Amino acid sequence: MKRLAVLFTILAVLAAALLLLLPKGTQKRQPDAEHQIILGFSQLGSESGWRIGNTRSVIAAAERAGVQLMFKNAEQKQENQIDAIRSFIAYQVDVIAFAPIVEDGWDNVLREAKDAGIPVICSDRSVTLEDESLITGFVGSDFYQEGVRAGEYLIKKIAGVTGPVRIAEISGTLDSTPMRDRAQGFRDTIEKDARCQVVYSESGDFLRSKGKEVMVDVLATAGEVDVLYSHNDSMTLGAIETIEQHGIVPGKDIIIISVDGEQGAIDLLKQGKINCVVECTPMLGDVIMTLARRLAQGETIDRVTYSQETVFTDFDEDMLSIPPRGY
Ligand code: AHR
Repeated sequence: MKRLAVLFTILAVLAAALLLLLPKGTQKRQPDAEHQIILGFSQLGSESGWRIGNTRSVIAAAERAGVQLMFKNAEQKQENQIDAIRSFIAYQVDVIAFAPIVEDGWDNVLREAKDAGIPVICSDRSVTLEDESLITGFVGSDFYQEGVRAGEYLIKKIAGVTGPVRIAEISGTLDSTPMRDRAQGFRDTIEKDARCQVVYSESGDFLRSKGKEVMVDVLATAGEVDVLYSHNDSMTLGAIETIEQHGIVPGKDIIIISVDGEQGAIDLLKQGKINCVVECTPMLGDVIMTLARRLAQGETIDRVTYSQETVFTDFDEDMLSIPPRGY
């Protein structure tokens, strides 16, 4: 009996030593279907109605799924997101998800997460990494396609128009994925049409106040513009305030193209003040919880999970029947 106990002790010590010898990053957590999953979620801020809807979606989905959520709001600062991710690592959460404010500058902290054996999901926006394996998967919108949809709408809208079509663009946060991809998708689509010219482009940081401010500059410096392409609804609503203050009729004197699909923008589409709203859904919570559970149980997930999205325009005959948006 005594010999048996000694043997067990030796085996336990050997097993522990073997674990310590494993290279960092391969010390996998034990999949356990029973224990409550702890998810660390770093939200980038509260800059728009979209973002607030996204936060609500994550919190409500965690409750529904019985996931313990450690939620931190970075108030628009990348350094706060890095601190949040470090605190999740120290807490040894099962999975980390985060909505990166910009694409660059994440390599070090994500390496730390990998070394700690914690899988990381990018939610909403993407990152640019030297080592792609630092991220397990992405869930969110195809922002490039959103830009393409905005461009396709414009080409359809200007059918029969002769002469140049002068476009002002109010873009999102510099170096963020939606800013880069919405701009590129739009340009790649309209460049096939020689009439389309982007005569002005400035960042409004996805904020309503800046959309309003940038539109003042558009009207003061860009000359006459035929189209406003705004990367989100919050900035569009701000820009429309400015446009109306100048006695210009939005949706008629200037074609207004927006992205997101917030209730406020859909209401203005119905009133004819916005011509096109490209949908970008913030309702990512349930998918994040499903992916987090799979990862916590040691399963693999797809590298990319895109949302299904549509476009609402003044060509739609059933515009009045668009159901409430919920954000
Ligand atoms: O990353 C998604 C974008 O961020 C949304 O279009 C915008 O409203 C938000 O601030």
